Amino acid sequence: MAAVITIDGPSGAGKGTVCARLAEQLQWHLLDSGALYRITGLAADRKGIALDDESSVSAVAANLDVRFVPTPQGVEVILEGEDVTTTIRTEEVGSLASQVAALPAVRDALLQRQRDFRTNPGLIADGRDMGTVVFTDANVKVFLTASAEERGQRRFKQLLDNGIDASLPALIEDIRARDERDSNRAVAPLRPAEDAQVIDSTELSIDEVCEQVVELVRKAGLI
Ligand code: DC
Repeated sequence: MAAVITIDGPSGAGKGTVCARLAEQLQWHLLDSGALYRITGLAADRKGIALDDESSVSAVAANLDVRFVPTPQGVEVILEGEDVTTTIRTEEVGSLASQVAALPAVRDALLQRQRDFRTNPGLIADGRDMGTVVFTDANVKVFLTASAEERGQRRFKQLLDNGIDASLPALIEDIRARDERDSNRAVAPLRPAEDAQVIDSTELSIDEVCEQVVELVRKAGLI
């Protein structure tokens, strides 16, 4: 079985950047599990399926015609032949994703597809339940978090950089509400695995977080 490092945590904690850096540095594969939920939400919506129609949405998830194509600029996401790389990052698709992610049959349908990413030389798995559900036997499990204020600040800056006006207090409130929902949902709630190392990135740079994770990977004898 190929080695796997799971990185779970709330959105805005820096998982995406850290995982992409680590995959590049170690030359391992990368699983962006959130993208699978985003693609499922988008595909179901495009087919006119109601997002609470669990059996129809899970059929979409089971039969996704999706390809992840690595390019020097990052991974391109191709859904049914169409490049949806930027489309799936919108707030609108994020909302579709969070609705389909709450359906147990959808999570089941995506389970094997996620496990299939585990191939040599190794996998960095980014998500919410990578260490608790999908790869319970992972070699290294990290739970990356940051305060709601810090995550709100990061999102605020990102939006401003993209020329989008936003309210910082509203963003922070939004993040708190989402944390509450994600941690208390019945299926695959967001929580650290018992054997996860918790890293709080509130006061750390991306480089410092990556160094800490690489140190854990080294201690585990994987590099
Ligand atoms: O990380 P992200 O924003 O791309 O995730 C999109 C949605 O999918 C978000 O609502 C959380 C959910 N998700 C999940 O439930 N389980 C995962 N392993 C990854 C994402």
